[in-house]
Order: sequence, then structure tokens, then C-alpha cells
Amino acid sequence: MSFDRSIKIAPSILSADFADFGREIQAIEAEGADWVHVDVMDGHFVPNLTFGPQLCKAIRKHIKTVMDVHLMIAPVDSYIDAFADAGADILTAHVEAGPHIHRTLQAIRASGRKAGLALNPGTSVEVAGPLLDLVDLVCIMTVNPGFGGQKFIHAQVAQIARLRAMIGDRPIHIEIDGGVDPVTAPLVAAAGADVLVAGSAVFKGGSVGDRAVYGRNIRAIRDAAKDDRKAA
Ligand code: DX5
Ligand code: ZN
Repeated sequence: MSFDRSIKIAPSILSADFADFGREIQAIEAEGADWVHVDVMDGHFVPNLTFGPQLCKAIRKHIKTVMDVHLMIAPVDSYIDAFADAGADILTAHVEAGPHIHRTLQAIRASGRKAGLALNPGTSVEVAGPLLDLVDLVCIMTVNPGFGGQKFIHAQVAQIARLRAMIGDRPIHIEIDGGVDPVTAPLVAAAGADVLVAGSAVFKGGSVGDRAVYGRNIRAIRDAAKDDRKAA
């Protein structure tokens, strides 16, 4: 994974057919996905349950791009090695998930994976300041984590811009997660985001049998984000 700040679209398989992850992943990658975003939820840190390291390992072999694993779990540290062994390229943990995020990020780096730091909408981006030397990505949540299909929280756009200024020329991705679609993508791109996670806006209307829809949805988000960059 080399670093670049161009727009990357990361479909969240939370909106895919859970009985057919292999073909869903092949479909979105064939239709232009840059990364594959995997939402791990524990029913404790967030009010929903999804999947664990075994599922991640099983789908890894279908992912040719980047496996971007978003850990919405607490505690985190005791599971890092299992998710690293499952083949994640990036492991992202929430600052709100425990008292020792610094140690968690060190442990992710020590596992040989890229380290991501996720921030809920109620958390100020300034919390990332002391952690910037330990992270490869900061994920700004633009919904409260737990479910796909929620409404984008506009107040987060100002936080993205503040984070972008904090990062300067460090090789750190800014990822946006929640409510990203062709309407909101230009706002977050103009504020400085480069990785756009999108679940419902990518998978809506399509299927593995009708995957061209995924391609159109991905292109619509990417084109909207790029247009605004030119204007910004
Ligand atoms: C929310 C997840 C997101 C979610 C995004 O807790 O982290 O990745 O799947 O879904 P949409 O794009 O539908 O808001
Ligand atoms: Zn996510």
C-alpha cells in the first residue's frame, strides 16, 4: 500500500448480501471499489453485532484491493492479533473504546498492520493530536456507529477541515464513514477527506447479478467528490 491522497471509495460490506460475501466483494472490486470496508461490531461498544476474525479470514481471499477493518469493539487489544492474522491491511480502533488508545495503536503497528484511529461524532478531532505519529489513518464518523443507512451529520464537516490542517503533510489518510453519497461526498472531499466509506449508497439497487449498478453508484460518488475538489 503506497500513500496517496486521491479519492478512494471504500464500500462497506455491511450493506452487502451476508449470504454471498465472496461474490459481492468480487462485484464491487470489478466495478471500481478501491478498498473494501469491513464493519466489526460487538453488541457492546455499538448496539449491533456483525462478524469476527473468522469471517474476516474467510473473505480475505476474495479481496484483491485493501482490506480495511473498522473495529467497533471494546475491549480491542485482546483481539488485535486475531484480526491481523485474518489478513486485515488496516485495523482501525475507536478512541472511545477504552482508556489506552495509545497502547492499542502501538499494538496494531506491532502486529504489522496499518493503524487507524476512529472518532465518534461526539469526540473533538483535537484528541488525535498526540497520536498522529502512531496512525496511518483517522476515521471521522459522520453518523453514530452501529448501523448503515443513517443520516449524515453535517457538523462533522468542520471537524474534517480541522483534522486536515492538523495532519499537514504527514502521510495519514482521512476516512469518512457514515451517510456518504453523491450529495455529501463533495462536502467531505472539499474539507480534506480522501477515503470515502459508503454502504447503502454503493449497494442500493444492485446485486451480484446486476453489478453494473454498483459501478454506477461508485462512479457517482467519486465524480461528485472530484468535482468539488476542483471547485474548492
Ligand atoms: C456504521 C458503519 C459504516 C456503515 C456506513 O457504524 O461503520 O461503515 O456501514 O453505512 P452507510 O454508508 O449506509 O451510512
Ligand atoms: Zn465503518
